[in-house]
Amino acid sequence: MEQEITIAIDGPAAAGKSTVARLVAEKLSYIYIDTGAMYRALTLKALQKRIDLDEEKPLADLLMHTEITLEQKGEGQIVLLDGNDVTWEIRSQKVTSHVSYAAKHPAIRKEMVERQRALAARSGVVMDGRDIGTHVLPDAEVKIFLVASVEERAKRRYEENLQKGFYPDMEELKREIEERDRIDSEREAAPLIKAADATEIDTTSLSINEVAQQILNQAATLTNG
Ligand code: DC
Repeated sequence: MEQEITIAIDGPAAAGKSTVARLVAEKLSYIYIDTGAMYRALTLKALQKRIDLDEEKPLADLLMHTEITLEQKGEGQIVLLDGNDVTWEIRSQKVTSHVSYAAKHPAIRKEMVERQRALAARSGVVMDGRDIGTHVLPDAEVKIFLVASVEERAKRRYEENLQKGFYPDMEELKREIEERDRIDSEREAAPLIKAADATEIDTTSLSINEVAQQILNQAATLTNG
């Protein structure tokens, strides 16, 4: 039987992590874990309860009373917040523009990392986020850091939005992506940074399939033989 490994995929906002991670997981029949969805689910609940995202303690208390479940469904992943399906709601513009504030608190990250490690306790996992290769799964056999120009990332988000029937402002999208990158990279607790042993892939002029294939090739060198 082929040996199962753990694959960590990190990178800035909208670099294609989740699409690529999902595809790699599907090809290998591995579990896909979207850690950004966990921070998004907490942010959604805090916004609904009008909890100040800058205040670490109330937010950490809220997380202790919050159940976030990631369920595999066909090719996709369903996100349940206290048992309710919030898969679409956590992708709203409001959650997107607030999530980096919730994700910067050490107490929140500590709890999330524990939950993420528990989810990855078995091998055969593809996990994506910002700190997977550096903090959550430092022993992952394959570590990938995806990057792309901000113009390309905004263009991809724009097209995703069009498909959902929204007509976003391109400049606004660029600003939001840059702002999220800035907060995620400048925070003290587990900032967005490439792990020393990660392979960087610039996806600006690559298709999803090409990126996935590069990761699958790396995985194959470890699992075959
Ligand atoms: O990958 P995403 O856009 O869904 O992530 C949403 C936010 O969550 C991102 O701006 C930063 C935070 N995040 C994080 O701090 N650490 C992770 N492992 C995943 C996401």
